[in-house]
Amino acid sequence: MTGQVRGVQLARLLGQWHALPGRRRSPDYAALAGTVRGLLADGRLPLGVRLPAERELAEALRISRTTVTAAYRQLRETGHLASRRGAGSWTMLPGNHRVASTGLWTPLDDREMLDLGVAALAAPPQLLSAARAATEDLPRYLSGAGYHPTGIIELREAVADAYTARGLPTSADQIMVTSGTQHALDLVLRLALAPGGTVLVESPTYPNALAALAGRRARITTHGLAADAGWEPDLLLGSLRQTRPKLAYLIPEFQNPTGHLMPASLRERVVAAAHAVGTDLIIDESFVDLSMDGTEVPPPVATYDRHSRVVSIGGMSKPYWGGLRIGWVRASAPQVQRLAAVRVGVDMASPVLDQLVAVHLLADAEAIVADRRVQLAVQRDALLGALAHRLPEWRVTVPRGGVTLWAELDGPVSSALARAAEEVGVRLAPGPRFGLDGTLERFLRLPFTLPAADLVEAVGRIAAVRYDLDRAGRQRWREPAVIA
Ligand SMILES: Cc1ncc(COP(=O)(O)O)c(C=O)c1O
Repeated sequence: MTGQVRGVQLARLLGQWHALPGRRRSPDYAALAGTVRGLLADGRLPLGVRLPAERELAEALRISRTTVTAAYRQLRETGHLASRRGAGSWTMLPGNHRVASTGLWTPLDDREMLDLGVAALAAPPQLLSAARAATEDLPRYLSGAGYHPTGIIELREAVADAYTARGLPTSADQIMVTSGTQHALDLVLRLALAPGGTVLVESPTYPNALAALAGRRARITTHGLAADAGWEPDLLLGSLRQTRPKLAYLIPEFQNPTGHLMPASLRERVVAAAHAVGTDLIIDESFVDLSMDGTEVPPPVATYDRHSRVVSIGGMSKPYWGGLRIGWVRASAPQVQRLAAVRVGVDMASPVLDQLVAVHLLADAEAIVADRRVQLAVQRDALLGALAHRLPEWRVTVPRGGVTLWAELDGPVSSALARAAEEVGVRLAPGPRFGLDGTLERFLRLPFTLPAADLVEAVGRIAAVRYDLDRAGRQRWREPAVIA
């Protein structure tokens, strides 16, 4: 159980439920129940939350209580609500389905496949020269044992300087180098979370973070992001206060998969609320460098932290190259020491040569990142153009950074579409990958990390199979598909 949603909060989520397109002569209670089912399928209303009492919701919606009673009854009949007399009603999915997915998938080595399952760029041209320069530096390290559990000092200084340049004064002893952001997340979880501890995540969120949480046997609670606006401040802060999770994992910059950017005001409020309820924040800054259209990125979340509540994680994979496997943690110096103690029980240290390559890339950050932003903006626009042309019914919010867009489809067909697309040489990561419990079937993440021509080709193939799905029988896709 993940808490309770109040009448006014649910009313806000329900929005224009009584005037939704497609509604014809259905009675009010059926429209209300249908909208709740849609919110559940899209992951905006978490599973296991207690809905407001009938009277409270009726007041919030300014409708009669009988309408709410009938809607709740229908939701019970369809298996979307469980009620216990005197205790309330909780959201669920029919048959209480849950996804046992680890959230992890690996690209196959198939060169013909247009892989839209992975949101990462090929290496920049500067990588080879950085690697050559790193081998020149290596002799300086060869007389030592080569184990640096917190990372080589040059790289820690370069990463600390980048934080300081973003307005967050940071010293090298606050940085620990890891083997990628994923490793950073795993180490922080090992240190901060006992098995069974509760963690709040966004829905949708990054699937491999869900895998890391599953690995630590975390109890996950979700904050549903709105497709157009992202975080809903009152709901997010309300969930923190109600659930009082041990940790919250958030991706405030160009969130994967939605591309949303958290405003400064909410950053400040989240940190204050987290501190008030004793929650530590893991802030994943994987995409912070990749803003577009001149979008200014607000100060780092840790800027608002006065009580060592915030641990920031990030890495080289998105602006530079995933194959480097270099990431980092920014925390207080004592936390870094504790993380290093955990780390020696895992992998001892990161490779020195790779860290040297990262040092050289960071020295050239301005030029490399500027090129990346231009490249990504061109690719994003090609993808948006192809979608508008071939799949005009799909709705997208234009991301102002990052590498992905989150398309709202014209039906709950994401998994079916991914299966069909695979047949025509396009790999997709369907919406349910980014959530729990088989929801998010109306959504699809589309990265714009492939060259523009490949993206246009991929959208053409996706559009063809989308229309084939319809011809194969529309009936099959009327109800949200559940992944069991
Ligand atoms: C939000 C987020 N966190 C972490 C990672 C993993 O990054 P790394 O390759 O640095 O481990 C990714 C990669 O896609 C990501 O999108």
